[in-house]
Amino acid sequence: MGRPSALTVTASPSTAQVPGLERGSYWITTFGCQMNKADSERMAGILESMGYREATAELDADLVLYNTCTIRDNAEQKVYSYLGRQARRKRINPHLKLVVAGCVAQQEGESLLRRVPELDLVMGPQHANRLETLLQQVESGQQVVATEEQHILEDITTARRDSSICGWVNVIYGCNERCTYCVVPSVRGKEQSRLPDAIRLEMEGLAAQGYREITLLGQNIDAYGRDLPGITAEGRRKNTLSDLLYHVHDVEGIERIRFATSHPRYFTRRLIDACADLPKLCEHFHIPFQSGDNDVLQAMARGYTIERYRKIIDHIRKRMPEASLSADVIVAFPGETDAQFRRTLQLIEEICFDLVNTAAYSPRPNTPAANWENQLPEDVKVARLQEINALVERCAKERNARYAGQVEEVLAEGINPKDPTQLMGRTRTNRLTFFTAVGADGRNYQPGDLVQVRINAVRSFSLSGTPVHG
Ligand code: SAH
Ligand code: SF4
Ligand code: F3S
Repeated sequence: MGRPSALTVTASPSTAQVPGLERGSYWITTFGCQMNKADSERMAGILESMGYREATAELDADLVLYNTCTIRDNAEQKVYSYLGRQARRKRINPHLKLVVAGCVAQQEGESLLRRVPELDLVMGPQHANRLETLLQQVESGQQVVATEEQHILEDITTARRDSSICGWVNVIYGCNERCTYCVVPSVRGKEQSRLPDAIRLEMEGLAAQGYREITLLGQNIDAYGRDLPGITAEGRRKNTLSDLLYHVHDVEGIERIRFATSHPRYFTRRLIDACADLPKLCEHFHIPFQSGDNDVLQAMARGYTIERYRKIIDHIRKRMPEASLSADVIVAFPGETDAQFRRTLQLIEEICFDLVNTAAYSPRPNTPAANWENQLPEDVKVARLQEINALVERCAKERNARYAGQVEEVLAEGINPKDPTQLMGRTRTNRLTFFTAVGADGRNYQPGDLVQVRINAVRSFSLSGTPVHG
């Protein structure tokens, strides 16, 4: 799911107001992964349908919602510092509504109210689509905690999306794995797949609004459909991720399809073959491997070996030699020896990833590994992280070098905030690319255009170039 970061849902000038329902302004700050970002977009849509409008600044808003992440301790702590500031505001302005949503809300529940009594609403991720009902309870004077296990209803309001070109579409919520370090299953609950037709319908709606790229989302997207009925004549499960890709591939207007996050235990050859066959499927795979050592993988309860992981990569490279590869890795997992850490480095070097998100192990509540006695000291975590990050950067640079002088298809997603004469977007392989808005042919390109860009500068994590022809 990539490295969690703080994101803010920003205003779009086209936001329609509901007349007669003016309720004040809202502000959402989103921490964590793409799931949270997608949830925030849906919650922003619900708030706007209720008559809230986007605030111009966090400290002016009448309703502040933090959509939180608890994947590591530092992500969780960040929320408390934000909340302290808002709690002080609330003591002066009792009409301010304070909401904590997402994974910290689910993890802490009721105890968040004890810690921050100024809160109005604490709501877990499975309750995102119920925001309106929950706020109505708040308006009737209650302090509300909504963390019970919930069947996720299809959302009927229109999400208020950050981008008008690239959209997220949830396909499976929750995670049934039990990786020994990970808090996600306890905060996101059991797997719940959406029906293929509901997913397709959402994509058709997005295409009609002009969206061109869709990223299908799931914490373990390869588990898609396990909870749906249906067996084929050959005795195979009917609703796998590969089947879903075939089902949604021909939505007219959508030019690119991506998906994340893949789990090596369930990632199939059939899926790789589907991606190779379907032209809109982009040549980028995000497949976290977490560790390059089999004993560590076993202690993590990941359910695969490095040999299996290598086979997946070999098959991808055989079918799609240009594909880019990214992954997540944890260093300094409890008991990880220096030799085991070196095997992780070796694997990164051998595969030469385009990008690896790295993190030092952080003990999390309600996870087995947090109670083990073989925790590693902070200085080992810092040293391993530094060493691995230097390698990751070197590989990224090496991989990016192959783009120099090449012409790549880039979907223009917006204007470069640092240089308004440039557009920015990504290649099919997910490389961030900046290019001049006016091409060599004199054409003025706009966000939403698919542009052929000649790459003339490569850096570790981005590319730059000039459009060559339309
Ligand atoms: N579902 C995805 C990842 C979800 S969490 C998968 O199975 O790979 C995103 C990343 O955060 C993980 O890939 C892992 O690298 C990292 N992460 C999760 N728990 C962590 C912990 N306790 N300490 C450090 N990193 C962690
Ligand atoms: Fe966490 Fe493992 Fe589920 Fe990924 S697959 S979300 S790492 S428990
Ligand atoms: Fe964080 Fe929850 Fe995502 S813990 S990484 S926001 S699933």
